[in-house]
Amino acid sequence: NTDLKKKLPLIDQKIMVTAGPTYEAIDPVRFIGNHSSGKMGFAIADELAKLGADVTLIAGPSAQTSKQKNITRIDVVSAAEMLEACLQNFKNSTACVMSAAVADYTPVNPLNQKIKKQEKGFTINVKKTTDILGELGKIKQPGQLLVGFALETNDEEKNAVGKLQKKNLDFIVLNSLNDEGAGFKKDTNKITIIDSNLQTTAYGLKSKEDVAHDICTKIVELIKK
Ligand code: CTP
Ligand code: CA
Repeated sequence: NTDLKKKLPLIDQKIMVTAGPTYEAIDPVRFIGNHSSGKMGFAIADELAKLGADVTLIAGPSAQTSKQKNITRIDVVSAAEMLEACLQNFKNSTACVMSAAVADYTPVNPLNQKIKKQEKGFTINVKKTTDILGELGKIKQPGQLLVGFALETNDEEKNAVGKLQKKNLDFIVLNSLNDEGAGFKKDTNKITIIDSNLQTTAYGLKSKEDVAHDICTKIVELIKK
């Protein structure tokens, strides 16, 4: 049905999206986190669902809610939980958009009792988390589309291309924190998309919904090929 395909170009596509921050426990009441609101990832999930996709949204702690119906939300807290959920869902997905702000480090020994305050300072030992997107890049099969984000403050394009290639992505969405109006808590964003042919497209400052639309247009274009 070509009419339906035109209106809903992502019908029959299972697409996985991650959103929000991860929280890494220090003790039962404290964590290491970041300022990600989840707005960008939730907007992408909504837009993909609007285009007909069957969306699985793997979300770190976030106050956002989905507007569309065909979205299955899986809530996770830590990077390790997000990794597990991603590995479980990626196999059956035709595409994955990794927009979560995954913690790079996690405490080595989270305590199961609340740490008491003390006169002297103390040190929290951390270890690197698994690079989820990097792992997905290693197991990606022909026909699967993998999209990542890059948050940069300097040497933006060079760093983004490095991540694109290292993580075996089809395209990367570069977010520059230097751009006024872009970033974590904002309702607007300004992106540059770089694909695996290094074709680079810079977009203007837009609402996160419109940015999600641009990202999803690129996904539709690549899935059609
Ligand atoms: N990412 C991930 N797992 C991690 C860290 C990052 O899947 N443990 C993903 C992010 O979701 C994003 C991409 O990798 O799609 C790039 O994240 P970013 O923080 O910009 O880059 P890093 O590779 O973590 O490098 P750095 O923070 O040092 O710039
Ligand atoms: Ca990082």
